[in-house]
Amino acid sequence: MAATLVTPTAINPLRAGMRGTRTIEPCVVVVFGATGDLTHRKLIPALYNLALEQPMPAELSVVGVGRRPLDNNEFRQQALDAVDKFSRRRPVNPNVWETFSRGLFYCQAPFDDPDGYVRLKNLLDQLDRDRGTLGNRIFYLSTQPSYYPTIIENLREADMARRGRPPGSGWARIVVEKPFGHNLESAQGLNDLLSTAFREDQIFRIDHYLGKETVQNIMVLRFGNGVFEPIWNRRYIDSVQITAAESLGIEGRAAYYNEAGALRDMIQNHVMQLLALVAMEPPANFGADSVRDEKVKVLRSIPPMREAEIVADTVRGQYGAGWIGGEHVPGFVEESGIPPTSRTETFVALKLQIDNWRWAGVPFYIRTGKRLTKRITEVAIQFRRPPYLLFRDIGADKLQSNVLSLRIQPNEGISLRVEAKVPGQEMRIRPVNMEFFYGRAFGVEPPEAYERLLLDCMYGDSTLFTRRDETELAWGLVDSIAHAWDHPPATGIPRYEPGTSGPREADTLIERDERTWRRL
Ligand code: BG6
Repeated sequence: MAATLVTPTAINPLRAGMRGTRTIEPCVVVVFGATGDLTHRKLIPALYNLALEQPMPAELSVVGVGRRPLDNNEFRQQALDAVDKFSRRRPVNPNVWETFSRGLFYCQAPFDDPDGYVRLKNLLDQLDRDRGTLGNRIFYLSTQPSYYPTIIENLREADMARRGRPPGSGWARIVVEKPFGHNLESAQGLNDLLSTAFREDQIFRIDHYLGKETVQNIMVLRFGNGVFEPIWNRRYIDSVQITAAESLGIEGRAAYYNEAGALRDMIQNHVMQLLALVAMEPPANFGADSVRDEKVKVLRSIPPMREAEIVADTVRGQYGAGWIGGEHVPGFVEESGIPPTSRTETFVALKLQIDNWRWAGVPFYIRTGKRLTKRITEVAIQFRRPPYLLFRDIGADKLQSNVLSLRIQPNEGISLRVEAKVPGQEMRIRPVNMEFFYGRAFGVEPPEAYERLLLDCMYGDSTLFTRRDETELAWGLVDSIAHAWDHPPATGIPRYEPGTSGPREADTLIERDERTWRRL
């Protein structure tokens, strides 16, 4: 029996009034890379939390596919350990675990072995019979990206993609983790291959930033309130800053990170998604295609950067050795697995323009980096100063302009900096913050991004997943920058000390325009 979820307005304002009820049909989530880090840290805990908090269909089943020899019980034990360690809701609830774990199964299969897919297919058919999963499957690619092509081809050859099935006879969806390609060409190749097996509406390219509550709230803030949209444009906005700073280093992901660097790891996906949500026009409705059409228009309006602009408007950096939080940390090139000659960037700052009616002339300053002062992701909208300086005589030319900052993490919230009169006989003016914090206002801990995204995939709602054209447009921009950086190959890369806000060159980039970065 399908379970029906009535979406409460307070928890999910985005859907309120638009789709009052959504239905989760019974299905099997097939996780390729069942013993991997992402599966343990994020996917299994997210599925367990969904079982704990949502009226999930009792038939929901999970099949882990991996190369290691495990039986169902060993897989269940690993899953329990993962929930115990990584779930946001602990301790494990024994009753919920009991029911949830009965739906966990393991299928040993090397990803390139067609026989493994036959075994998987038989297991899925058996689950349809035994657990009533109705032929519905979500294939989740959580392996190294080099396995994606072979898994997609094998799913297609084993007739598991269910592309042409009539409605009601069982569906298949595929979730593809990042990195989605390494450049435009490889992303296009992967998209082409996916489209030989799945229709676009079956493909869910995941960007976990879109599952974060506060990222979704950008749309609610803009389009659910009357006060912001009239001033959300070049007439009132001076500039926009997007920051995604981390204090952590590369956390043992040397091989991947050394190939990717901050530009591909963060800018191509998470940061461009934030930018698109901040800059897009109001969609016709909150249907997947309407929202994504508007995001795509923003990406199309970013003009390709010419070489001279790349030189002037982009900065990269790499962290050296030093101290952070009282701890001595190695430099990037001293991290285990990173060649000492690596010039991979761990920091990027960019200035972008969006050439459209709303944003012409408003610079978007973007920065992301590892081993910075602290972890903070925020979007700051800097408004223009008042047109007439009424308080000039009392030092009003020093007034700061209003800033609306959308704090994505941590301490999720929104604050508006306004000028206010300091109490007293004299006329003195000082900036103060009007603040709202999610934790205080709603008194609940936001769910993990993966919970929301897995749930949306079960519903078949791809609004919070990236469409083919979005992915490729973002790669186009990133490719032009990466290409210019590599030609001629850089002989060095600016270094920055851990625990700082990045290389000095990033300050120069923004100070040239008589602006400064917000303090981290
Ligand atoms: C991942 C990147 O996609 O996002 C990581 O690969 C980065 O390098 C992470 O640390 C940041 O995500 P979050 O949710 O911690 O901001």
